[in-house]
Amino acid sequence: MNPSPAEQQLVIVSNRLPFIVGRDPAGRLEARPASGGLVTAMLPILRQKGGTWIGWTGLPEKDDASPAALAESVGWPGFAVVPVALSDEEVVGFYEGFSNEIIWPLFHDLPSFCEFAPSHWDYYLRVNRKFARAIADNAAPDSLVWVHDYHLINVGSELRQLGARLRTAFFLHIPFPSIDMFMKLPWRQSLLRSLLEYGLVGFQTLNDRRNYVQCLRRLLRGVSVSGKGQVLRVTVGDRHQAVGHFPIGIDFADFAHRAAAPEVRERAQALHNLLPDRRLLFGVDRLDYTKGILLRLRAYREALIRHPELRQRVTLIQVVVPSREHISTYFDLRTQIEQLVSRINGEFTEPGGWVPIHYVFRSLDPVDLLAYYRAAEVALVTPLKDGMNLVAKEYCTCSIEEDCVLVLSEFAGAAAQLRGGALMVNPYDIEGVADAIYRACCMPEQERRRRMRRMRREIMRRDLFWWVSSFFNAVNKEVPHELQTNQSDEHGAMADGENPVDAEPGDLHRRVG
Ligand code: F6P
Repeated sequence: MNPSPAEQQLVIVSNRLPFIVGRDPAGRLEARPASGGLVTAMLPILRQKGGTWIGWTGLPEKDDASPAALAESVGWPGFAVVPVALSDEEVVGFYEGFSNEIIWPLFHDLPSFCEFAPSHWDYYLRVNRKFARAIADNAAPDSLVWVHDYHLINVGSELRQLGARLRTAFFLHIPFPSIDMFMKLPWRQSLLRSLLEYGLVGFQTLNDRRNYVQCLRRLLRGVSVSGKGQVLRVTVGDRHQAVGHFPIGIDFADFAHRAAAPEVRERAQALHNLLPDRRLLFGVDRLDYTKGILLRLRAYREALIRHPELRQRVTLIQVVVPSREHISTYFDLRTQIEQLVSRINGEFTEPGGWVPIHYVFRSLDPVDLLAYYRAAEVALVTPLKDGMNLVAKEYCTCSIEEDCVLVLSEFAGAAAQLRGGALMVNPYDIEGVADAIYRACCMPEQERRRRMRRMRREIMRRDLFWWVSSFFNAVNKEVPHELQTNQSDEHGAMADGENPVDAEPGDLHRRVG
C-alpha cells in the first residue's frame, strides 16, 4: 500500500515561512510561529511526522538567517526549515510587483489596479526558480511537495526544467478568475501551463475550479475532463491532472474553546459597558482594496441616513490591520479610509458621546480579537472578492450563544458555504448593504439563532482538519507515485490568437459536473 502523504516526507512550500522573523534591539534573531490557517494546519503534522518547510523569512537578504539559527530561535520546530533569501530587487519585482501588483488584483477581478510591468515577470521567474532549486535540493524522491498560493505558480514549470520528478500538489488560496479576466494576463499561457504541471491543483470553491477548467479549454488544445464530485480529472495531451475544490476551514473547536474563556467574556462585557445600549457592528480586515472597506463605510453612512433610528443605537468598530504598506495603492487606501471615517464621524457624532465609527489601525492581540467577535451583534464581511475569508468563519464560531448576524458578500469564497445563514449582499450595492445592516440590527432572535446555528454547523463540519485530510485523500487517490516520463513540453499549448471557441457555460457545466 502506498504511504499516506503524511507518512511520506512532506515538503511544504509557501512564500513565507511559518514564522514571523525579526531582530531584537540587541540584534539577536527572534522568530515566533505565525498565525493563519496553513500554519495552524501544517505545524502539528510536520512536528509529529517530520518534513520540510521552504519559504522566505521576510528578512532582507543581507540579514538572512541560516536554517540552524532560525530553528534555534523558534525552539526546535521538529522539522527542517529551508529559508529562501530574496534580494531587495526581488522583493520589489517578485513579491510587490508580479505577485501583488499583477496576480493579486487580476485574480480579484480588479484589473485597473494591475501594474503590468514586463520586468515583474522576469523577477517572478527568477524567484520561482530559486524556490524550485530549494525544493530539488531538499526533497527526497518519494516526497510529496505541496506548493501554496499565487506567488509560486511557476514553480511547477521550473521543477520540470530542473528535471526534478516529484509528486507535487498545489493549492490556490485566492480566487481563480474568469476566462475574460485571465485572458488579460500577458503571461497567461506560461502560467496556465505551469499550473498544469502539478499532480493535483486545489481551489477554494467550485466556481474557481470551473474558471480554471474553462481557461484550460480556451487556451490549450485537446483538453478533456472526466469525473464528477469534488475532484475531476483533466487530460491535456499526455498530461493528467486532478483538479478539486477544497474550501479551507478554521480550527473550530479551538476557536470556540478560546472564545469561551472568562478573560474573553470579561473583555467583551467591558466593551459593552463602555458603549451601553448599543448594537455593535464589527469589521476586521487586512488593509487591502479587495476587502471593500471604503464601500462598506459608505454603506454604513447610507444606513444612518436611510434609517435615522439607528443613530445613537449602533456603533461600527472597524479594525484595519496594516499590510503591504510599501505598495503605493495600499498606502493610499489607508489615507482614503481614514478620511472617510473622519468625514462620517464629523457628519454624525452627537455631543452626548455617540461616535458612529470606532476606528482601529493596528493588529489586535488574539484575546482582543476574540472579545470583539464575542461583543459584536453583527459582523460586516463585505469583500469585493475573496478566496475564502476566514473572518466570516471565525466570527460565527465565536458566536457561542448563536444569536449574532453575519452580513456577507456574495463574492467571498465563504459565501458558497454560508449563504444559508448569512445576510447576503452585493458589496457594490451601497443601498442594498445599508438595508442589510438595518435588517441585521432588527432581526428577531429566533431568526438570528436559526441562521447562526446553520452556519456554525457547516463551519464545524468542514473545519481546518477536514480541509487537510480531504486534500491528502485526493493526493493519495489521484496523484500516482510512478510519475509519467513521456510528458511533452507543450502539452497541447496553443499560440495566442489560436484559441479554440470557448465552451458554452451550460455545456461546460455538464461536462465538469
Ligand atoms: O490571502 C493571501 C495571503 O497571502 C495570505 O496567505 C496572507 O495572510 C495575506 O495574503 C498577506 O500576505 P503577505 O503579507 O505575505 O502579502
